[in-house]
Amino acid sequence: MTLKLENLTLRFDDQPVIRDVSFDVADGELVCLLGPSGCGKTTTLRLIAGFERPESGTITIGDQIVSTAGQAVAPQKRDVGFLFQDYALFPHLTVAENIAYGLSDRTRQQVKERTWEMLRQIRMLNHADKYPHELSGGEQQRVALARARAPRPSLLLLDEPFSGLDTSLRAKLRRETRDVLKDRGVTAIIVTHDPEEAMLMADRIVLMRDGRVVQTGTPEELYTNPVDAFTAEFFCEVNHLDGVVEGDWIKTNAGLIPNQNHPDGMEVDVLIRPEAVTLGSAAFDKALSQEVRVCAVDYAGGTSHIRLALSDGPEPVPHIQARHPGPFQSAVGDHIQLNIDQAQTFIFPKQHDA
Ligand SMILES: Nc1ncnc2c1ncn2[C@@H]1O[C@H](COP(=O)(O)OP(=O)(O)OP(=O)(O)O)[C@@H](O)[C@H]1O
Ligand SMILES: [Mg+2]
Repeated sequence: MTLKLENLTLRFDDQPVIRDVSFDVADGELVCLLGPSGCGKTTTLRLIAGFERPESGTITIGDQIVSTAGQAVAPQKRDVGFLFQDYALFPHLTVAENIAYGLSDRTRQQVKERTWEMLRQIRMLNHADKYPHELSGGEQQRVALARARAPRPSLLLLDEPFSGLDTSLRAKLRRETRDVLKDRGVTAIIVTHDPEEAMLMADRIVLMRDGRVVQTGTPEELYTNPVDAFTAEFFCEVNHLDGVVEGDWIKTNAGLIPNQNHPDGMEVDVLIRPEAVTLGSAAFDKALSQEVRVCAVDYAGGTSHIRLALSDGPEPVPHIQARHPGPFQSAVGDHIQLNIDQAQTFIFPKQHDA
């Protein structure tokens, strides 16, 4: 089932919360709605589900317009499955009863079969008669997902479905969920504020900030071709340098970086991913290379995090972070050669505070 949002706007207490939001989801596609807390992700899902009405704009599910100026299709008629941010199961219903909750329009036999099928899929057949408080957090989340999927909605909306789980369980449930959704060709939107989660799960990411869509694209597109500094920095820690355009080059504390069509004299932000920084003896491109001093080396989880000073002047001198797989050979105080891969260097006009 396809979904199309066009120019949606919504205010709460006169504050704009959704500002001209447009994106679409293809049939069978898994889209992650990503962005910092308060940017409007839950509100966007509530608009799609019909719990909120936009002030302007149009929502189309399949070939039916479900929301437009002055008219709206009721939430229960939208064929949308929803898992709320707090994934509250009904505490007075058993696991099986929770899953069966949305199946009221079927025969008893159909309800039983579908409920059992879902329990089998989430490998919780032997938990059918338990109550939510008798389950672990991960089990509750599995049941909540099963409940949302049980009526086979055309469109599944999941709001932070893996929040509150420890890292390994989260990774497991995330994989499991992606596999089952892709396997069955379910069209889904998953909300998350975790960029790694969005990268690992999404066919496409819709990145939001302050009620607006900042960029839409595959995880790779957003990572390798961010539209602005916010997007570049959202996915991983980056080195942030000030630069000034001088003809074909941009002058920074980390040496010269090739200009990418910015006008002479412009002040720019130069963002360099830590993995774009390589360290070694020889410079592969003199312009993108300079000697730096090793200031700190931390070995963390298979990767060394290295802090490098860009000059030998008195503190504070500008620093740059680099990553090195495995233990790093050089010691603090050593002088080494820094090389920057310009394919992973992003340059944006400097945003001056108004
Ligand atoms: N019913 C409401 N009345 C007034 N303001 C609201 C209401 N619901 C949400 N907001 C405001 O709208 C903005 C967007 O909220 P929303 O819940 O969509 O954010 P979110 O992106 O889901 O954040 P989080 O990641 O923290 O869940 C916030 O500033 C929030 O305070
Ligand atoms: Mg939310």
